[in-house]
Amino acid sequence: MDPAIKHNRAAWDERVRQRKPHTGPATDKDFENPRAVVDQCGWLEGSLEGKRVLCLAAGGGKQSVLFAALGAVVTVVDISPEMLAMDKRVAAERKLKVQTVETSMEALPMLGDGTFDLIIQPVSTSYVPDVLAVYREVARVAASGALYISQHKQPACLQAESFPAGKGYMMAEPYQRSGPLPPVVEGSRHREAGTIEFLHRWEDLVGGMCRCGFVIEDLLEPRVGNVQAGPGTFEHRSAFLPPFVTIKARRKEKEAKARLALWVPA
Ligand SMILES: C[S@@+](CC[C@H](N)C(=O)[O-])C[C@H]1O[C@@H](n2cnc3c(N)ncnc32)[C@H](O)[C@@H]1O
Repeated sequence: MDPAIKHNRAAWDERVRQRKPHTGPATDKDFENPRAVVDQCGWLEGSLEGKRVLCLAAGGGKQSVLFAALGAVVTVVDISPEMLAMDKRVAAERKLKVQTVETSMEALPMLGDGTFDLIIQPVSTSYVPDVLAVYREVARVAASGALYISQHKQPACLQAESFPAGKGYMMAEPYQRSGPLPPVVEGSRHREAGTIEFLHRWEDLVGGMCRCGFVIEDLLEPRVGNVQAGPGTFEHRSAFLPPFVTIKARRKEKEAKARLALWVPA
């Protein structure tokens, strides 16, 4: 296993033990209207009853159990045993069925070809060095016509300083870079302390998805910024540097082959 991925497994386990952000399970309120939580973009079609759903890098007892509550047949993949323990715990408490798989998001050999109708992935591709390896595996396990809804950290957000200097947030990291990003600056909320992260360029985040067999149907940038907030807060920074992007993509066999035939690697 890549050393950074191994490091991130321990880092996320520790974040769970310390109850850090993004490690909280679904609440009673979430269970009152699970669909509103799992379909914030309004992209899901029809009933989820019996739909085969893969929650990728989505441990923590949130998305998996909410999809299960909607009648879906759910598999949740995560690298962190502590995150998956919460899926198991909440599923048992709510008498829901969820299959948990401990593996890295780009290594899914235990999952069959074309076995999922819907794949959802919360913000997590920044924790692996090779986003295309993830897309190739998702394309393999997706059924033809399956939806792939994924969230990503947008590159500029990872390039810029955590806190403002002078008039704004300085661009500190070059766009064309490789290797892990510098460690998280104490107090920054757009990154997770203790983890190792990688910047993925748009040509990989979006272009790579197309080259791996998906057609992009929509793209949204969740509005979390507030220019009136105090300088240096997550909300203030997000008003200048939107932190996330959510992509709706569909697995299409024919288009994928045509695109791969046209694509000339740099
Ligand atoms: C921001 S959390 C998302 C999950 C959480 N339920 C949420 O909605 O906030 C990121 C998740 O990615 C997982 N993760 C990090 N690296 C991974 C990898 N290489 N493969 C699979 N999961 C990974 C972490 O353990 C963590 O559960």
